[in-house]
Amino acid sequence: MNTTARLTTAGLLITLTMPAYAWAEEVTADQVVGALEHTFGVTPGERRNHTKGMCATGEFVGDSAARAYSSSPLFTGKAVPVVARFSLSGGNPRVPDTAKSARGMALEFALPDGGKQHMTMLNTPMFGAAVPQTFYDMIVAMQPDPQTGKPNPDKIKAFKQSHPDNLGQAEFLSANNPPPSYANSAFYGIHTFKFISQQGKVTLVRWRFVPQDGEKTLSDEEMKTRPANFLEPALIERTGQGPVKWDMLVTLGETGDPQTDPTKAWPADRKEFKAGTLSITAAMPQKGAACEKINFDPLVMGKGIAATDDPILYFRSPAYAFSFAKRMGGI
Ligand code: HEM
Repeated sequence: MNTTARLTTAGLLITLTMPAYAWAEEVTADQVVGALEHTFGVTPGERRNHTKGMCATGEFVGDSAARAYSSSPLFTGKAVPVVARFSLSGGNPRVPDTAKSARGMALEFALPDGGKQHMTMLNTPMFGAAVPQTFYDMIVAMQPDPQTGKPNPDKIKAFKQSHPDNLGQAEFLSANNPPPSYANSAFYGIHTFKFISQQGKVTLVRWRFVPQDGEKTLSDEEMKTRPANFLEPALIERTGQGPVKWDMLVTLGETGDPQTDPTKAWPADRKEFKAGTLSITAAMPQKGAACEKINFDPLVMGKGIAATDDPILYFRSPAYAFSFAKRMGGI
């Protein structure tokens, strides 16, 4: 059975059809986008989440090790062009770059077979919601109190007490200051995906991108003194000196590892291999640049890579589509 959602925006009628999981009864993608709008306000024509961001371009070269597991044209060893967007989570376009929130790296690979592959990642190893309802409840709990203009601490506390699936990511963000540059951040795919080999063998994997510039975080002192906007100039300056590279590392799942819960880590001793190198060669403000009008829907995948039944992964697609349709309509 499928559920269908219809969205009318700026004269466009969009019909979204998705599998009916239990969570579909709880909260819908348009409700979540509505909650983001209510909490953060609307910046017309801009993303409803990860509103503050910048564009970049580069290429990805896959390693032959990945070909044993995936027939994706990403791993043929040829350079694959990439359009990237780096961002801060939340819908505030003026959020300071010192905010202790997640940073994003979204990649669109132009595959040699003419297809596209997306990877839309965060710099936290886990997500803060096992089901869409938790994400919705978090955004609602963050709504500014009309008296103070800030989130009500009692509502945040009540949210955390009633949603243990949020705590892993919340604790990670509290314990780790944000990076001084996107070039010094690792980014995690978080969900479990399937790699499918040429012979049809399915392997459960998780991936992350680890910066060759090294992982760094701001000191508590730097957190107090940094200006509101340093991430964009830092990446533009860094790419001016030469390519910024990340190793794509793939972890192989074993029987019993969580497949459908993006809040749960896998045991640390799982086998890993390097699947390729991402090189970002140019960075620029997003206005008019290539990433601005891309919907980095994580379910856009070429052959050789497929989704698991993670309810968060499936929910992202219609939520991004609602946000995308609105911003493309100038709303
Ligand atoms: C219930 C779960 C989630 C919801 C409802 C949600 C919602 C959204 C929305 C509405 C956007 C803006 C889309 C656009 O206008 O193009 C967005 C962007 C983004 N999300 Fe999510 N998201 C969720 C989970 C995640 C997860 C698990 C990750 C990482 C693994 C993630 C990473 C990102 C990133 C990096 C962007 C910015 C993409 C860009 O630069 O265009 N999100 N999200």
